[in-house]
Amino acid sequence: MCGIFGVTGEPDALPLILGALHQLEYRGYDSAGVALVADGGIWRVRAADGTRSVADLSQLTTDHPPPVGHGAGIGHTRWATHGHPTAENAHPHLDCTGRLALVHNGIIENHGALRADLVAGGHIMSSATDTEVMAHLIERHMAAGLSLAEATRAALGLVRGAFSIAVVHADEPDTIVAARRSTPLVLGLRQGVALLASDIPALLGHARQLYALADDEVAVLTPGAISVTTLAGTPVRPEELHIAWDLEAARKDGYEDFMSKEMHEQPGAVAATLLDRRGPDGRLRLDEMRLSPADLRQVDKVCIVACGSSYHAALVAKYAIEHWVKLPTEVDIASEFRYRDPVMTERTLCVGVSQSGETLDTSKAIEEASRLGAKVLVVSNVVDSSMARQADGVLYTRAGPEVGVASTKCHLAQIVALEILGLTLAQIHGTLTPEQIASALNEMDRLPELIEQALRRSSAVDDVAGKLIEARDFFFLGRHVGYPMALEGALKLKELAYLRAEGYAAGELKHGPIALIEPGTVVVGIATRNRLWEKLLSNIAEVHSRGATVVLVADDGDREAAAVADHVLWVPPCSPLLSPVVGVVPLQQLAYRLARLHGHDVDRPRNLAKTVTVE
Ligand code: G6P
Repeated sequence: MCGIFGVTGEPDALPLILGALHQLEYRGYDSAGVALVADGGIWRVRAADGTRSVADLSQLTTDHPPPVGHGAGIGHTRWATHGHPTAENAHPHLDCTGRLALVHNGIIENHGALRADLVAGGHIMSSATDTEVMAHLIERHMAAGLSLAEATRAALGLVRGAFSIAVVHADEPDTIVAARRSTPLVLGLRQGVALLASDIPALLGHARQLYALADDEVAVLTPGAISVTTLAGTPVRPEELHIAWDLEAARKDGYEDFMSKEMHEQPGAVAATLLDRRGPDGRLRLDEMRLSPADLRQVDKVCIVACGSSYHAALVAKYAIEHWVKLPTEVDIASEFRYRDPVMTERTLCVGVSQSGETLDTSKAIEEASRLGAKVLVVSNVVDSSMARQADGVLYTRAGPEVGVASTKCHLAQIVALEILGLTLAQIHGTLTPEQIASALNEMDRLPELIEQALRRSSAVDDVAGKLIEARDFFFLGRHVGYPMALEGALKLKELAYLRAEGYAAGELKHGPIALIEPGTVVVGIATRNRLWEKLLSNIAEVHSRGATVVLVADDGDREAAAVADHVLWVPPCSPLLSPVVGVVPLQQLAYRLARLHGHDVDRPRNLAKTVTVE
C-alpha cells in the first residue's frame, strides 16, 4: 500500500523526506512525490518510474532544488489502485488554487459521486485518482472560511472508505493536518519538530515520542507540537507507542516474518477488494474492468488460466461461476493450456489470474487466448502489470504488496475478486435475482470479520502442529470447494515445510492413494459444511480406520466431524461458496507453524521465486 511521510519544524526537510520515502520503498510502490510549503505557495515534484521513482526524485531535486526556507513538507510512495501509475496520478495532489497539497493511503469508496459533485461546482481535476477529490473537498470548505483543520474534518465527514492522509496549505505554512480511518498513521515528536508516517520504520531515529492515531481522529502538527481531536472536533489524547524494534522488525510491523504480517493483513485485503463495487442503485459495477456489460452478456464460456495458489483460487471460482451463472467454466494450469489446442471463440471469456501479473506461463496463456479470439480479463494485484496492460479488461485485487514468496493474502483476495466477477456475470446474464446477489454480497461483507476470528485461533493450530512434528506424509482431502482448499493446504505445506503433501479430491481416494494410508500418515480433511459434507466424513472414516492421524477443518461446534478426527481446526461457519476464504486460514497457519518448527525460512523457501518469469 502507499507510504506517507510528513515533517514540520525541520529547516531542511527535503533530505529527511526523501530518506523516509526510501525507507518506505520496501512496501512496494510505482511512483512517488514530495510537496513543501515554500515561497507563499506549494513546491512539488513527482516521478513515476516504478521502483526507481524515489531515486528519480533525488536527482530531480538536486537538479532543481526547492526554494531556500520552507515550512511543512509531505511525501508519498504510491501503490496504484485508482488511476494508472503515472506522474499525473502520483501524490501529492493539489486543489484548484495550487495552495493545498494532500497525500493519501487507502481507497475512497464514494469518490465517483464526490468527483461529479465537485466538477459540477466548477472544480477542475487533474488526475484519475480517488485521492484528488479530498484536496478539492477541503478547498471547498476553506473557501467558506474554515481553517485547514476545520475544513479537513468537515470534508472527511463526507468521505466513505479507508484513508490515512496528510495535508498542507500555503496559508498555514508550518501546519500539517493528518487523519485516518482503517489504514495506519503514526505521529512522532522531538524538540521543535513534529512528524508523521504511514508506518513506524519511517519514523525510527527521527522521533523521541511516537503516537498512534485512531480511526476518525484528526491531528494538527506544528513544530514540536501535536494536537488531536475527533472528527467532531472534541480533543483526545493520542495513544503513546513504546517501540523497541529495530528497522527490520519494524518493517514487519513487529511480526516475526512477512508471512505472518501478510496473513494478519488478510481481513484488510479482502475488505479492500470488496470496496467500491456497488453503484448507488446497489447493482454491482466493476468500473475499472474495461469490458462492457454488452461484452459480458455475449459470453457463453469462461476459461480461467493461472499457476500456483492463483490456480487454486481459480478452481474455487469454477464452483461459484457454474452455480451462479450456469456458464461452462474451465480452469487450466497456464503452462498446460498454451500447449494443447484449447477451443475458444469470441464468446469465450478467458480470465488470467496472477498476483504479480508477470508470471510468464499465465501471460503466454492469455496471449494465446487472445489470438484465438477470446475476450481476456486479468485479475492482478499489481496495477498496470504486464498482464493488466496486455488484457482487454482488468479486475484488481487490492491486497497491497505481498513480500512472502508463498501467497497468502493475495490468494484470499483473488477468490473474492473472482466471486465478485461471478456475481457480476450472474447480474448481467440474469441468472440470479437482485435479492440473491445482494444477499451474497452482504455475506461477503462479513468475510473480513470471519477471517479475523480464524486468525485469532492460531495458538490452537500451533498445538496441533506441535503434535505432528514427526510426520512426513500428508494427504489433504476435500470435496466441492474443499478440493481446491485441500490443494492449497498441501501446496503451502510442501513449499514452506518441505514435507510430502498431496492434495486430493476425497472421492478419488479409493482409486489409488488409499493404498498409501498407514499408521503415521496424516490426513487433513476439509470438513466445513457443504452438500458433500456427509460423503467427505465417510471418506475420512475410511482413512481413520486404516490408522491415519486425522486433522479436520470443521465448522464451530460440528460434533459429528469431531467424532472422526484426532484433531480439529475450528473455523467460524459461512456459506459453502465463500468458505475457502475463511477455511484456508488454518491451513496456512498449519504450514507456517510446521515450517517454523522444522527451522525453515517462511518468507524465502528454498528453490522458489515469488514471480516466475521463465517457463
Ligand atoms: C509462484 C509463487 C506463488 C504464486 C505463483 C503464481 O510460484 O511462489 O505464491 O501463487 O507463483 O504467481 P502469480 O504472480 O502469477 O499469482
